[in-house]
Amino acid sequence: MFPSNTPSSTSHLHSNLWFFLWIPLITSSLSQQLTSAEPNNNIIMLPTSSDYLPAPKSCPVPDPDLNFRPVIGIVSHPGDGASGRLKNGTNVSYIAASYVKFVESAGARVIPLVYTDPIDVIFKKLELVNGVLFTGGWAKNGTYFEVVQQIFKKVLEKNDAGKFFPCYAICLGFELLTMIVSKDNNILENFSASYQASTLQFVDNNVSGTVFQRFPPELLRKLSTDCLVMQNHKFAISPKTLQANHLLSSFFDVITTSTDSDNKVYVSTVQAHQYPITGFQWHPEKNAFEWGYPMIPHSEDAIQVTQHVANFFISEARRSPNRPPVPDVLNNLIYNYSPTYCGKKGNGYDEVYIFG
Ligand SMILES: *[C@@H]1O[C@H](CO)[C@@H](O)[C@H](O)[C@H]1NC(C)=O
Ligand SMILES: *[C@@H]1O[C@H](CO)[C@@H](O)[C@H](O)[C@H]1NC(C)=O
Ligand SMILES: *[C@@H]1O[C@H](CO)[C@@H](O)[C@H](O)[C@H]1NC(C)=O
Ligand SMILES: *[C@@H]1O[C@H](CO)[C@@H](O)[C@H](O)[C@H]1NC(C)=O
Ligand SMILES: *[C@@H]1O[C@H](CO)[C@@H](O)[C@H](O)[C@H]1NC(C)=O
Repeated sequence: MFPSNTPSSTSHLHSNLWFFLWIPLITSSLSQQLTSAEPNNNIIMLPTSSDYLPAPKSCPVPDPDLNFRPVIGIVSHPGDGASGRLKNGTNVSYIAASYVKFVESAGARVIPLVYTDPIDVIFKKLELVNGVLFTGGWAKNGTYFEVVQQIFKKVLEKNDAGKFFPCYAICLGFELLTMIVSKDNNILENFSASYQASTLQFVDNNVSGTVFQRFPPELLRKLSTDCLVMQNHKFAISPKTLQANHLLSSFFDVITTSTDSDNKVYVSTVQAHQYPITGFQWHPEKNAFEWGYPMIPHSEDAIQVTQHVANFFISEARRSPNRPPVPDVLNNLIYNYSPTYCGKKGNGYDEVYIFG
């Protein structure tokens, strides 16, 4: 496991500091009130205002080791995300806006890594971000596969060089990492898990160092009993196949499994042993941000799943030491593009960003 994030220890330190600062402040304000003979007519005393503690004179200095303006690169996928209804062409690619909102909701911005761009352009944009997300989709070959492979190699290189750089690989993204890490493009197996909500079964009770580490215990329990996550895939890998492949089992820890319509068990969440890389066969971004299919869970618990998974990713991105020039970031942010609303027909994605 990679070292886990410990923001709570920092805030604990801060609260201790404030405790010691407050003692003299409280004492002096109390003695002022006790010794003051004349009521101060300029101050309106509300009944409980004598209970208020004085506000600190300045805000605590944020942790200098963290980046509070993280940016995530999201790789675009072939097509328009709407089977050609929005835009045709061999050079067209898209990012479903739900991935962008997912990242934004946790306090980060997005730079699109448009896979049809020349690879040196993609690598330059990779220098502007603090983490990468591979989305769902269907493309498993050609330029798209090669671009994902090259970006993944850079993710490993950055971490190997001591530059913390997290990666989320969702659905197809996880399937591609399975193929790349195993060096076997035929390793995936057929499963019946299209358009269905499912549970997650935890392999180990200890979720420390994983995406689930800051889930409330009650929500964690519900993940294994309630169908709080959305699955939509025809391929996956069984725990047996993963464990039998030395390259895969030495790279990934299986965190959860799920079961398809034929009662076949597949790996649903993995965490790399040595890298801040998490793979999801399910779709953490859909619960809060996609409305096209009736089986997408939208309960309060389901929305919290989206939020906790997004928060973990961005808490990791804040640890990335990369501090690129601000104008370069602004010039490449996804705010330079407008999403297209395509959800009115009630299927597919609600909004997509289209490139090319
Ligand atoms: C794309 O091509 C398909 C098939 O030829 C066609 O049905 C569709 O209308 C085209 N889409 C656009 C946006 O032109
Ligand atoms: C890539 O995969 C698609 C199916 O997903 C297939 O139709 C196509 O022939 C493949 N292309 C190559 C170059 O293998
Ligand atoms: C998976 O399903 C496809 C058809 O959907 C079939 O052609 C292929 O042989 C199957 N693969 C395995 C490993 O069963
Ligand atoms: C839980 O896992 C973490 C990370 O692998 C490890 O450091 C810790 O010792 C484990 N805790 C228990 C109680 O096994
Ligand atoms: C395809 O689109 C990308 C991104 O917009 C662009 O950089 C590239 O030049 C385009 N390629 C062709 C052949 O049009």
